[in-house]
Amino acid sequence: MPLPLLSSLSWPPEAYLWFKTLHIVGVVVWFAGLFYLVRLFIYHREAADLDPPLRQAFDAQYGLMERRLANIITTPGMVVAVTMAVGLLLVEPLWLKQSWMHAKLAFVAALLAYHGFCYRLMGQLQRGDCRWSGRQLRALNELPTLLLVLVVMLVVFKGQFPTGAATWFLVALVVFMAGSIQFYARWRRLRAERLARQESGGAPA
Ligand code: HEM
Repeated sequence: MPLPLLSSLSWPPEAYLWFKTLHIVGVVVWFAGLFYLVRLFIYHREAADLDPPLRQAFDAQYGLMERRLANIITTPGMVVAVTMAVGLLLVEPLWLKQSWMHAKLAFVAALLAYHGFCYRLMGQLQRGDCRWSGRQLRALNELPTLLLVLVVMLVVFKGQFPTGAATWFLVALVVFMAGSIQFYARWRRLRAERLARQESGGAPA
């Protein structure tokens, strides 16, 4: 059935609320998958520095976990979120005329590109030719957080998107969290290197 016809159907009164419920459930599942997927990429990438027998075992395990997470949780979450969003727009097509929705759709397009890029990275990790370092992957993992905050703010505030102190506080919080994650990872790496040096220094020649 063509889209204009679908949108002119008379929907049952609760259809909108059902679509919205499932849209939110889909969004939660999608984001849980995206966040954990890139975290797995970080562990997978850092396992490349291990000795060959250990590295092969970790490669196989992380590869399996990534494929299952991406195909069984993340992508189905995305499909549910987007399909239910289409349902919401069919019931309420006027949303499509509002500028907050245009901004939201632009951020969602960025999120879909990020989703596709994660599949590309997953393929590279499985083939062993990923050029991204653990540090770069950690930074990449901050992008969906930013998109999540922006999209949720748009959908809640709609035409009255706030630009005051509270918004800047939220932006500062996201930046602070991203910085802390990088700082903690660096501190752990330096500590591991120091311990390794101490151990090799203490070992008999
Ligand atoms: C495919 C693109 C999407 C479209 C067309 C879309 C459309 C919509 C529409 C029409 C609503 C109902 C607004 C209302 O009743 O006030 C809604 C609600 C919502 N959307 Fe989306 N959405 C999309 C993707 C997303 C994404 C990616 C997120 C999360 C990052 C998201 C988060 C939400 C939330 C949290 C609500 C509930 C807001 C509320 O009830 O106050 N949406 N969406």
